[in-house]
Amino acid sequence: MDFDKVIDRRGTNSVKWDRMEAYGGVSAEDGIAMWVADMDFRAADVLQEAVRGLLETANYGYFASDAPAIEAAAWWMAERHGWVADPDWISSTLGLGHAIALSLETFTEPGDGVVIFTPVYHEFAAKITAAGRRVHESPLVIRDGVYHMDFEALEAGLTGGETAMLISSPHNPAGRIWTAEDLRELSAICDRHGLLMIADEIHHDLTFPGENFTPFLVAAPEAAHRTLVLTAASKTFNIAGARHGMVTIPDAALRDRFRRALHVHQTQPNLLGVTLTAAAYSPRGAAWVDALTAYLDANHRLFLDGVGQIPGLAPMPMQSTYLAWVDFADTGMNRAEVLARVHERARLVPSVGGFGTGGESFLRFNLGMPRARVQDAVTRLQDAFSDLQ
Ligand SMILES: Cc1ncc(COP(=O)(O)O)c(C=O)c1O
Repeated sequence: MDFDKVIDRRGTNSVKWDRMEAYGGVSAEDGIAMWVADMDFRAADVLQEAVRGLLETANYGYFASDAPAIEAAAWWMAERHGWVADPDWISSTLGLGHAIALSLETFTEPGDGVVIFTPVYHEFAAKITAAGRRVHESPLVIRDGVYHMDFEALEAGLTGGETAMLISSPHNPAGRIWTAEDLRELSAICDRHGLLMIADEIHHDLTFPGENFTPFLVAAPEAAHRTLVLTAASKTFNIAGARHGMVTIPDAALRDRFRRALHVHQTQPNLLGVTLTAAAYSPRGAAWVDALTAYLDANHRLFLDGVGQIPGLAPMPMQSTYLAWVDFADTGMNRAEVLARVHERARLVPSVGGFGTGGESFLRFNLGMPRARVQDAVTRLQDAFSDLQ
């Protein structure tokens, strides 16, 4: 678990490093990739051993079942999150982008409104739009420096044409952990307005020490008949390339519809994804995650302190994840001016745009990297904006 070890991912077909120049115009020679949400750490030993086991079988033919991953996931949810999910409720998907798309196509109709809380992970709106559904934004409000949902505005704004709500819990960006009360309030709103809840809990393991994540169905078990919960080991263990995710559907009729859609599309998971998820959700995996979250929290505090000192820059305090969210509004600069400094002077490539209403003046910085590199990024930002000091 040497998270301090700097790994050179350039030239390894890493989208974050090998596409950064195309995305942000900054060469990987001297730039730091802080956009795509994966981490620059070596995989856990427990995963390496699982891959070695695969190698030794020297056979990559059809495999019997995804049950090892599903059973390990059910164990993990109960053990780590106090959420008892029957393994029979869980289906494998090819990651969670796929799960979101398939959920929208299966349970909503073209033209339906889908509620999302902005600013949020850009693919939510992109997928809703690509599927011919309508994005219904419920902008988050900032109180005491962090995001809150505005339940009254949300309910007042519903038009009757919405059929689903898609949440990121914890929230990407900024790692806000929704409270059990928040989730119960959402459940009540979904109930009153006949909305299907799609709870994307992909970031649920990345909570910092001392913070508590509540799964949607622990907070609101009464919503089980109209809820899909999306989870994955991919963000937690940095195995997104293995393209494995899970959708938990307690309701038999909804589950049947979803499985038929999976069948039609022949979307069985791949052997590597199943093997890695099964290995990750284990006591050894848990020990790795505990060390990781403490490390990420320290990265977050370093970033918050350092960037918070730059006049005009406001990093939002986080409770989880490695996706830091910085408001540049008080610099008085427009986005092009801010980016000129971030890209050209600091040589950093954060995520830019697409997060929806409320995200216009923010950039998202990925802190899933060795601490020395986070410190380097902070220093570069301080230098790039030094004239504001
Ligand atoms: C909230 C959320 N959902 C889904 C995804 C994408 O998941 P996948 O890589 O499994 O498609 C991400 C990736 O950053 C995410 O932040």
